[in-house]
Amino acid sequence: MRLLEKIALVTGAAGGIGRAVALRFAGEGAFVIVSDINAPGCAETLDFLERSGGCGVVVLADVTEEKEIQALYRQIEEDYGRLDIVVNIAGGDCEPVADVEEIDYLKMSANLDLNLKSCIISCREAARLMKPQGFGKIVNMSSLVYRGSPNQFSYSAAKGGIYAFTRSLALSLGRYGITANALAPALVEVPAFVAALGSERWEMLRKECAQRYPLGRVATPDDVARCALFLASDDAAFITGQILEISGGARL
Ligand SMILES: NC(=O)c1ccc[n+]([C@@H]2O[C@H](COP(=O)([O-])OP(=O)(O)OC[C@H]3O[C@@H](n4cnc5c(N)ncnc54)[C@H](O)[C@@H]3O)[C@@H](O)[C@H]2O)c1
Repeated sequence: MRLLEKIALVTGAAGGIGRAVALRFAGEGAFVIVSDINAPGCAETLDFLERSGGCGVVVLADVTEEKEIQALYRQIEEDYGRLDIVVNIAGGDCEPVADVEEIDYLKMSANLDLNLKSCIISCREAARLMKPQGFGKIVNMSSLVYRGSPNQFSYSAAKGGIYAFTRSLALSLGRYGITANALAPALVEVPAFVAALGSERWEMLRKECAQRYPLGRVATPDDVARCALFLASDDAAFITGQILEISGGARL
């Protein structure tokens, strides 16, 4: 068990990737704080987690609200007195497939709020808890679009911002025994994505990506969860400020 007796917070834990991370961490012995804005989804994640022998709790929070993030961390401090790992996963693209001239101010702001500002504030609160402990693992969810994407302007900016911010965190928190790294998956098959596109369009996208990615398939949520586990575990004790591309070789 690689995370025995660790307290781990996973945001976005009702979603495809977040649930896989929560389940994998619990399977490795962590006590998992399952957080999301989606209450029934969190309850389902916790149910899966407990039925497979893991332990955790649900704490709901809207990560676009600073006060809710602060309340989440306050509760963790009160209930457990410490936090060993945070994986900031909550996010998603609020403004896909726009021509650059069509960037909408409100949607752009929503993308930055959900994907970038939420991550920054969550890490600020995590650092406040982790610094006095002299230990902590921060794993942030970027995306392969951090390299740029022709139709995901504000989303790619947010995910690129997460990489830059994570490097800054690593520079400032290393001396406190805290590592900060980022994950950058290419296309991951998650139920929300398939539902949003509809099965026909999803299948076209999946096939097109599978042909393009050298490993010949798109990622599963557990491909991402296993990388999160690596970065959150002692196996990655001397790794900080890095972005791990989980891309099947895409965009080499
Ligand atoms: N699926 C992919 O192809 C892919 C690729 C690269 C990166 N990502 C990133 O991975 C992360 C997880 O995405 P996913 O694919 O599992 O999608 P998903 O939609 O299944 O999960 C996203 C989760 O975030 C939660 N969320 C949304 N707004 C929130 C808010 N304001 N406060 C708290 N929680 C909120 C949702 O309820 C959902 O459970 C996202 O950050 C996404 O940008 C996904």
